[in-house]
Amino acid sequence: MARPATMALKIAAIIGAAAALYALALHEHTARDLQRDATVDLTPACAEKLAGLGLASGERFLAASRPARGYSNEDVRAIQRGCNLVNDLQGHFARDGAAARWNAARFVRGSLTTCDHCHQGIGDKRDATGRPQAGSNSLAASWVMADMYDRFTGLLLSYELRQMQCFINSSNGFKPNAADDVLRDVTAYSRFLSAALDLRVGERYPEQGIDEIAASATLKRGDDYIRGAHLYRSHCAACHGADASGMATGEKARYPALAGPQSFSTDSRMNFAMVNSVMPGFICRNMPPGREGSLANQDCRDIAYYLSTLPRPAGDKEGPLTAAWQQIMMTAMPPLTRYADSLRKENGHALEGNGAAD
Ligand code: HEC
Ligand code: HEC
Repeated sequence: MARPATMALKIAAIIGAAAALYALALHEHTARDLQRDATVDLTPACAEKLAGLGLASGERFLAASRPARGYSNEDVRAIQRGCNLVNDLQGHFARDGAAARWNAARFVRGSLTTCDHCHQGIGDKRDATGRPQAGSNSLAASWVMADMYDRFTGLLLSYELRQMQCFINSSNGFKPNAADDVLRDVTAYSRFLSAALDLRVGERYPEQGIDEIAASATLKRGDDYIRGAHLYRSHCAACHGADASGMATGEKARYPALAGPQSFSTDSRMNFAMVNSVMPGFICRNMPPGREGSLANQDCRDIAYYLSTLPRPAGDKEGPLTAAWQQIMMTAMPPLTRYADSLRKENGHALEGNGAAD
C-alpha cells in the first residue's frame, strides 16, 4: 500500500511544481502586458524630441512632405519606450529604471552605457545648420537601410541583428532575444524617426553609419599614437578624462568612457583595429561636440590609434587569456596614468585641457 501512496505523492509534487511554474509565467506575462499598456514616462530629451516630430496616434501621420500610415496608441507607447531606451538605456532617468526600460540593464555589463553616446541626438544628430550630421550613425537612416549587406561580415543583417551587435560589443554586454521588447521598441522608434524625417526606404543617406577614414584619405605618413596621445590631451581629456575613463555625475555618464571597464569591447566596431577605421570617422564627424569637423583626418586616426592602445574589456571572441590581460591592465593602468600625470604637473606641464564647451 505504501508504494502507490508514494507514487501519488510524487505525481502530485510534479503537477504542483508545473502548476507553480505556469502561475509564475502567467504572472510575468500579466506584468509585461501591464507595462505595455502603461503610460510612458518620457525622459526630458525624448519628450522634446517626440513632441518636435509630432508623434500622436491617429489614422494618418503627417510626415514632412507626404501623409504616412498612422499610429495606434500601442504603437505610440512602443515608440516612446524605444526613444527612452536609446536615450537612457540603463534607466537612470526613470522612476523604476528596471521596469520602465524592460530591464535592459541585464544586457549590459557596465552601468553607464547608453546608445545615445554613439548614436547621438537620440539617433538623429543635427549639425549647426540643423541638417542631419553626416557620418553620425543615424538610427532613422539606418532603418530605411535595414536588411542591407553588412560591410564587415558581408552578411545580410536584419535591423534586430544590428542592434544585437551593439549590445554585445559597443555596450560590452549580451544579446537580447530577437523578439525581445527591448529590440522591438528600438525598432519601432527608429522606424518612426525615418517616417517623421521623410526618409525613403532603400535609400542611402550620408548620416547613415559612420564613414571610415582609411589611410588613403591622409598624407600617408603612417599613424602615430604618441602624437595621438598629445592630441587627446589637448582636445579630448577635458571631457573624457586623462585616462579616457570618462566622467560620471552620480550614476549617469556625463562624458562616456573611451577605455576601461565602462567602455566598448575590443570586438566593437568602435575599436580602431586592423582595417576597421570607424573610430577615426566617428571622431572627425562627431567630436568634439560643437566643433565637429575641426580635426584633420590624420589627427583622428592618430587619436584613434592612441585610444586603441588603452585597456578595455575583451570581446567574447578573444578568449580567456586576452580577457585576463585586459582585466589586469584595466586595474593597473589608471593609477599609473595618475602617477605619471602628477609627475608632469610637478614639472610644470599641467594637463593642457582645451577649454571644454561645458
Ligand atoms: C560605443 C559606441 C556605440 C554604442 C554605445 C552603441 N552603438 Fe550602435 N553602432 C556603433 C557603431 C560603431 C556601429 C557601426 C556603424 C557602421 O558600421 O557604420 C553601430 C551600428 C548600429 C546599428 C546599425 C546602423 C547601420 O546603419 O548600420 C544599429 C541599429 C545600432 N548600432 C543600434 C544600437 C543600439 C540600439 C544601441 C544601444 C543598445 C547601440 N547601438 C549602442 C556604435 C555604438
Ligand atoms: C565638450 C566635451 C567633449 C569633448 C571635448 C570631447 N567629447 Fe567625445 N563625447 C562627449 C559626449 C557628451 C559624448 C556622448 C555623446 C552624447 O551624449 O551626445 C561623447 C562621445 C564620444 C565617443 C563615443 C562614445 C563611446 O562610448 O565610445 C567617442 C569615441 C568620443 N566622444 C571621442 C572623443 C574624442 C577622440 C575627442 C577629442 C577629439 C572628444 N571625444 C572630445 C563630450 C566630449
